[in-house]
Amino acid sequence: MAYIVAATGNRHKLEEYARLMEGQNVELKSLNDYPNYTEPEENGSSFEENASIKALAACKYCDVPAFADDSGLEVEALDGRPGIHSSRYAATDAERIAKLLKELEGKENRRARFVCVIAIAANGEVIETFEGEVKGTILTEPRGENGFGYDPVFQPDGFDKSFAELTQEEKNRISHRADAYRKALEFVEDEMSILDDEF
Ligand code: IMP
Repeated sequence: MAYIVAATGNRHKLEEYARLMEGQNVELKSLNDYPNYTEPEENGSSFEENASIKALAACKYCDVPAFADDSGLEVEALDGRPGIHSSRYAATDAERIAKLLKELEGKENRRARFVCVIAIAANGEVIETFEGEVKGTILTEPRGENGFGYDPVFQPDGFDKSFAELTQEEKNRISHRADAYRKALEFVEDEMSILDDEF
């Protein structure tokens, strides 16, 4: 069977990807299968650059096709921040949320979107990148216990619940990661030879 490495050790992301890939004829590996791997520095200036850096490094090290994602939250009233700095915005999820709510205090525009870019690398080069998004608004206080990161304060359009109040299945149907993943999967299905060439 062909296989592909997800260039992440993040448990939440791996769970999401494993579910999204159920029923596919591709075996999913992850960086946990390569314990000596050191992750590259994410010094790109866009989601696309960072995803590409991660996918390429994993592809070269593991010598198999690899994909990586880079994601974050873009808030309109903050000119797109925290954006690619979403995980570094503050030290913990609770502090990141508190800082975001503080920055938005008194602002009328609470529009935001989660973005995810997936890069696929094979044979030592990045082949393609895919962008997914989900639009919504930032709530005035956290709600819900599920998910991670900014989920408790993000309400996707068309729902009256935060991401953290949705089940994993509900979030998976509409998330930025699922959107990017679906686009990537279509491409991989059409170009299955990318994976097969390697083995
Ligand atoms: P990275 O893609 O691992 O660099 O993570 C980016 C950061 O964006 C995460 O640490 C979270 O803070 C945030 N983020 C990305 N996706 C989600 C999501 O689905 N829910 C909540 N926060 C997210």
